[in-house]
Amino acid sequence: MGLMHGHRMSVRTVLVTGGGSGIGAGVVVELAAAGYQVAVVDRNAEAAGRVAEQVKAAGGNALPVTADVSDMDAVASAVAEVRDYFGTVDVLVNNAGFARDNHILDMPIEDWDSVQSTHLRGSFLMLKAVAPLMAAQRWGRVVNVSSISALGIHGERVNYVAAKAGLEGLTRAAALDLAPHGITVNAVGPGVIQTAMTEVSAARAGRSLDEHLAVQAAQIPRGRVGSPHDVARAVQFFIAEDADFITGQVLYVSGGPHG
Ligand code: NAI
Repeated sequence: MGLMHGHRMSVRTVLVTGGGSGIGAGVVVELAAAGYQVAVVDRNAEAAGRVAEQVKAAGGNALPVTADVSDMDAVASAVAEVRDYFGTVDVLVNNAGFARDNHILDMPIEDWDSVQSTHLRGSFLMLKAVAPLMAAQRWGRVVNVSSISALGIHGERVNYVAAKAGLEGLTRAAALDLAPHGITVNAVGPGVIQTAMTEVSAARAGRSLDEHLAVQAAQIPRGRVGSPHDVARAVQFFIAEDADFITGQVLYVSGGPHG
């Protein structure tokens, strides 16, 4: 690792959780195109493999890794596998997640637990596993994928809202702990982004996907729903070489403030 005419000579390694689909896959593809080498971590092995192949077909460097981020042993071996293959982890994107929406009175305890486990426990476990690698090189970037739901503006999803609000608290507190080690910790909070999750929301609202997207777009100041590219753009901002004074922040990517 060194500097030549102000540019690093070695390539940065990014680990993206939930990289097999939606926002995570978009982040993987865009960062690989921007020159990063990327570990695609997903509990869906086939999805991770597909995205890694897509990167390789475009001339990039990607490693698919199968792991459930809520499983401590799986996280430890996933990070060890990435370290052995690429040498280290420079950037962590905690993106794995899903919703299990319901009115609080109808919400099964299992749906509370599973949502917390993936979003909150999973992000914590990943952070704990990669932070020593980053601290050893006195450089690291962590981006947690939150949501505008963290603002408490959406009902019938107490598990998801609490998990994302918790993730934003984790972002600020971890930023303080890790600042002396050269590691920044920030969050992006997407609004409505068209992914597999949108299809689940449409089904729950009893609408076709097109109807659902039209209803959502009408509520968004920019007049459209977002794409994984819109989120990847914000991730790139936070992980830049010279973004070392920006930490503990949340950047909402939602086409303008809205409920
Ligand atoms: P998606 O369903 O398209 O992709 C999520 C990926 O995460 C899947 O490949 C899935 O296998 C993986 N995953 C889920 N739980 C996992 C676990 N425990 N361990 C490993 N992998 C796991 O979903 P989408 O929409 O791309 O969501 C990505 C993130 O963005 C989530 O954290 C979600 O909460 C957040 N988000 C999404 C929004 C949207 O409108 N789509 C809006 C705001 C936030």
